[in-house]
Amino acid sequence: MASQLLRYIAALVVISFPFSSYSIPFIVLHGIGDQCSNRGVKQFTELLSNWSGSEGYCIEIGDGTWDSWVLPLQEQAGIACEKVKQTKELSGGYNIVGLSQGNLIGRGVVEFCEGGPPVKNFISLGGPHAGTASVPLCGSGIICILVDNLIKSEIYSDYVQAHLAPSGYLKIPTDIPAYLKGCRFLPKLNNERPNERNSTYKERFSSLQKLVLIMFEHDTVLIPRETSWFGYYPDGSFSTVLPAQQTKLYTEDWIGLKTLDDAGKVIFISVPGNHLGISRSDMKKHIVPYLEDEVPARVRKLSNPRQASSFLEHH
Ligand SMILES: *[C@@H]1O[C@H](CO)[C@@H](O)[C@H](O)[C@H]1NC(C)=O
Ligand SMILES: *[C@@H]1O[C@H](CO)[C@@H](O)[C@H](O)[C@H]1NC(C)=O
Repeated sequence: MASQLLRYIAALVVISFPFSSYSIPFIVLHGIGDQCSNRGVKQFTELLSNWSGSEGYCIEIGDGTWDSWVLPLQEQAGIACEKVKQTKELSGGYNIVGLSQGNLIGRGVVEFCEGGPPVKNFISLGGPHAGTASVPLCGSGIICILVDNLIKSEIYSDYVQAHLAPSGYLKIPTDIPAYLKGCRFLPKLNNERPNERNSTYKERFSSLQKLVLIMFEHDTVLIPRETSWFGYYPDGSFSTVLPAQQTKLYTEDWIGLKTLDDAGKVIFISVPGNHLGISRSDMKKHIVPYLEDEVPARVRKLSNPRQASSFLEHH
């Protein structure tokens, strides 16, 4: 009796004292034309951090806005990889929240970063995972004049590839041979080149615990919006959009998307709104649960499995 009570109290103590000893941090990778110091990104990171109880870090690449446009994505991913490795707080593993183009940098970190800490959950908002058939809208200003001029020349030329980040994931379905030959980033990231598929990238990508793919129902920036779910036009035509499951990337499992999906680790989410226009309630519903402290880390501390499971049920 007494020992049972003691055990009960011991369990209570474990339950009621904060488990804040360890919670997995997350990083935010912003989209093109944005930067960590902008109010929107700051608030987004802070809200997720406040709601999840996990520390959030916005990882900046170069000077932010300008470099997000002009640094090739391979280089951006390399910088992010170094920063992640140098951030001590991330060394035990971390989650990624990607915004738009930031998703490709995030996947670059997952697939290419040698010796980086493990990435657990990857939450993607409006990611051009399978490419996009149009340059992101850039509004007006000097950068758009530059971009326009670059686009008018050859997208897949060495010059454009080296000076315009989105050219690394512009995939014109009616120009696939040029894309596979000239595009420097996405074909590598997606293991698209038949003779250059690298199983290491696939191994790393399929080791994610959860992949949450959020698509915006009224996305007018990503063409087609289904690219957020790895859906895309078939090679050679704009006529239809293939769902991810009907693309070769999936059926031949070039990067492990099918492996992850078969294991129940891919969550396809569709939310209302235009590109990145997510509501607070959808953030709480679709992002926060994947950033919260991992339950197994807490359960390990409980000696009595019965109590552990009742704790889980009420959590
Ligand atoms: C997050 O919580 C802190 C501390 O309670 C608060 O000062 C801050 O305003 C919150 N951030 C947002 C974006 O609500
Ligand atoms: C595949 O990628 C890994 C990690 O970057 C690299 O070490 C390896 O040499 C690559 N393999 C091939 C066949 O290119």
